[in-house]
Amino acid sequence: MAAKVLEILRVEGISKRYGGVHALEQVDFDLHYGEVHALVGENGAGKSTLIKVLGGITPRNEGRIVFEGAEVNFSRPVEALHAGIAIIHQELSMMPSLTVIENMFMGRMQNRLGIVNWGDLERRTRQSMALIDLNVDPTRESRI
Ligand SMILES: Nc1ncnc2c1ncn2[C@@H]1O[C@H](COP(=O)(O)OP(=O)(O)OP(=O)(O)O)[C@@H](O)[C@H]1O
Ligand SMILES: [Mg+2]
Repeated sequence: MAAKVLEILRVEGISKRYGGVHALEQVDFDLHYGEVHALVGENGAGKSTLIKVLGGITPRNEGRIVFEGAEVNFSRPVEALHAGIAIIHQELSMMPSLTVIENMFMGRMQNRLGIVNWGDLERRTRQSMALIDLNVDPTRESRI
């Protein structure tokens, strides 16, 4: 018998309206450890809205979100991020006037007593870039 796989996320009855537009209506979804899901739908189906609700970007009108066994109500993206929900948006959302390193660690730049360990961030940025054979100077601005 297969082992019971732990649930990470459960979404129940999520609804989101933008004025008269029902972007989401009673959406249920669950996610277990080790699973990868593709959320598929036509333009305007509500995919981005669901992800934004999960990530604390957009407030929902109805429904519950249970994450790692506890009900959550994120009101800001950083709360979702700290809980372990990271979102990589489809739309380009880089800050062109910031460096590659700053873009990589935007919103999750750890510091000690207000001091950022730039050497460590550069090393980790280079590691990530090496994974995709990206060869640019991580200390330069991100504008193309
Ligand atoms: N900020 C907003 N204000 C008003 N209406 C919105 C807003 N964001 C999304 N909508 C509307 O909500 C519905 C769902 O949009 P959403 O962006 O979630 O769809 P999507 O499935 O991500 O589409 P796409 O495939 O084009 O990315 C659409 O009718 C859209 O016009
Ligand atoms: Mg979308």
